[in-house]
Parts: sequence; structure tokens; C-alpha cells
Amino acid sequence: MNILRDKQILLGVCGSIAAYKVAELARNLTLAEARVDVVMTAAAQQFVGPATFQALTRRPVLTDMWALPEDGVVGHVSLGAHTDLIVIAPATANTLARLAAGISDDLLTTAVLATRAPVLCAPAMNPNMYVNAATQENIATLRRRGMLVLEPNEGLMAEPVTGRGRLPEPAALEGEIRALLGRRHGPLRGRRVVVTAGGTHEPIDPVRFIGNRSSGQMGYAMAACARDAGAHVTLVSGPTALTPPAAVEVVRVDTALHMRDAVLDACTGADILIMNAAVADFRPGHMIDHKIKKTGEEGMILHLALNPDILGEMAHRRDLFKVGFAAETDDLIANARVKLERKGLNLIIANDAVASIGRPDIQVTILDGVEIYTLPIQTKPQAAATIIDEVVQRFNRWLAHARLPASEMPADTDE
Ligand code: C5P
Repeated sequence: MNILRDKQILLGVCGSIAAYKVAELARNLTLAEARVDVVMTAAAQQFVGPATFQALTRRPVLTDMWALPEDGVVGHVSLGAHTDLIVIAPATANTLARLAAGISDDLLTTAVLATRAPVLCAPAMNPNMYVNAATQENIATLRRRGMLVLEPNEGLMAEPVTGRGRLPEPAALEGEIRALLGRRHGPLRGRRVVVTAGGTHEPIDPVRFIGNRSSGQMGYAMAACARDAGAHVTLVSGPTALTPPAAVEVVRVDTALHMRDAVLDACTGADILIMNAAVADFRPGHMIDHKIKKTGEEGMILHLALNPDILGEMAHRRDLFKVGFAAETDDLIANARVKLERKGLNLIIANDAVASIGRPDIQVTILDGVEIYTLPIQTKPQAAATIIDEVVQRFNRWLAHARLPASEMPADTDE
């Protein structure tokens, strides 16, 4: 599933130094097979030339309200009518003010006024202009009318001063766009999905822990794909160095016990649980409250207690579609089958633990009690997209069969 494929996006660029960042957004949306029509205000052209956007989108850049198109329909009317989404990035204080007042004195403001498509706005400006009551009131007005207006980031501005006014990074803007399109068109729109990611840290003393090599890459990619499919996603994340996907609710945890509490909490009212985290099976029996010292030449014995099996504890939740992962070093399929059954799962994703943990690529085998198939080695985002497609198909079948675990699903599920 690629929520951007064949979507028509009108990208309005206003006059801010942040306009250069949006060139990368235009490129990435185009590479993801969206059709991107860039509209530049006169001020925007003082910062970046139309040729940059034209080269990246492979489409003419629109700058002139009075340029007569070949079909004879005045540009702004057809622009707004055929678009799936208008994105204004960067949105200046001036453009926000004109939009709030309903002024339509250039191609962008006129297209916004004439459209029925959703509008996503990413303000970027001097921090004092952003906190000014006029700007804040304009943003509140636009939000009240249904426009999605993002918060700018805090940090060093071009001036240079520090404050809130920076345009979010292109990847974050793309995430917000995917989320918005997903909520309107995605197969999981209206659904709540919980994804766990990363490993856990089980403390030995205040400075040491037992952990594993999980990087969180696969879980983060799964969360992004579930978001693109339109779900409200809660990502329960163990410690990782990754930036979470945009438009996803993140709950950070460290230990398995902490993760269990967070998962139980997040699963209230959820439809799907994707348990990708590499949860430590054992934890030190008791945490020592000071740094353990070496005593002579002796080694030390660490007593480990068993952690709860979070997925296993969810077996009674027959109203939840459950996806587990089985990372194994041997007997991959046989072990995965046992886990599918024992943990009452609807789907299990088996993979070679050594070849995939902490790495950017993965080869997965998907098992659901009836079907089994192996995908080629691919990047984790590619594998996550295929897995979410499979989850969507089976989730819909499962709903039709009154929410059964894989072992109780009828073999012939097509009727
Ligand atoms: O039993 P095993 O750890 O191999 O099972 C793997 C699956 O169970 C994964 O989906 C993992 O997230 C989940 N799991 C869990 N709680 C544990 C250990 C694993 O939910 N304590």
C-alpha cells in the first residue's frame, strides 16, 4: 500500500527562508508517485526559483493567476477542484492572515478559497511573529474552520535567534501528509492500532542493564505504515535512537514490566496489536540501588527472574487482532507455528534473529495458521508495507468471522 500513489497534491510555497526545505518534500512526494503541482507566491520566488520545483516534480510550476491555461478554465478554479490535498509549506504570517480573512489576491489563496479538498498548513516564521496575537488568532480561526495547522519546531532560526518558528523537517511533513490522506482514504481509517518496537533495558544497578540488539527500525516502520493506512497509532517504544514517525502517539518505556503496563493501557479500545518489540524474557531478580563494585578476583552470579509474556497475557482479548513476531535462530517455522497457537495470535511474522536484528534489511515469513509464505530480503520499510497489507486483508476477514484467533478461523474464508 502506498497512500501517496496517484494522489494530486497542490503544494503552496510562501516567502520564507524555509522554502528551500520544501524542495526536498516536493521531490520525495513525487518519488512516492504523487502528482505534485507547486504554486509559488511572489515572495517565495525571492527565496527559491520555480525551476528547482519544476525539475523535482517534472511539472510546470504555477506562479501567475492570469496565465490562461489551454482548456480555457481560469487556473485557480480547476486547481482547487482536482486536488486531493492542499499543503501550504512554509506558510508565512501574511498568507495565514489572508487565508483567515478570506482574501484571494493570488493564485494560492484563491485556490484555497475555491477548494473542497483538505488543507494542511505548516507555518514558519520569526518566533515573535509566530507568538503575536494576530498570528495566533488567525491560526485559531483556520483550525476552527477545519484546516490542519501544524506547530512549528523550536530551535535556531536564520536570523540567528532561538525560538518557535522553524518549519518541521521534510520527513515529518511527509508523515503528516501521509497520515491525513490515510485518515481519508486508508483501509484502516477509524481503527486504533498499537505497535511495540525496540528492545527493553532490564536494570542491574543504576548504571547497567541487560538489553538486546534490537534497533526499533522494524517496529517504527510498522507504525508508519499503519498510520499511512489511516489508523490512529500508539507506538510503545523501548529505548532507541530513532526519530518516531510523525502523527503517531508515542509512549516510551524501558523495562518489560513498564512495557506491559503501557501495552495494556494502549490496548483499551484498540482493534489491532502488533507486538514487534524484542521483550527481554528475564530481568535481574532485584535492582541494586548502588553501582556494583568488583570484589577481588571473584566473578558474580546474577539471579534472573522471568518477565511476563505480554502477548501471552493478551490471549483472552478475542476482540483484538493480534500480530506477533518470532525471531529465531533455528527451526524458524516450527517455532513460529507453536507461538501462533500458544499465544492465540491471528498472524505471526517469522524471521531469522541473527540476520535481521539491529539491521536495515529483513526476510520475513508470514504465517496465519492456514497460509504461509516467505518474502524476499528487503528493507524494513518495504517489508512493513507488505505486512500491513496482509494485516488489513486478514483483519477484514476476521471482522467478518466475529473476531476469532487463527486456530479457530475457518479454512475457507472467502465467502
Ligand atoms: O516467546 P517469544 O519471545 O519468542 O515470542 C515472540 C513474540 O512475543 C513477539 O511478538 C514479542 O513481542 C512477544 N513477547 C512478549 N512478551 C515477552 C516476550 C515476547 O509479548 N516477554
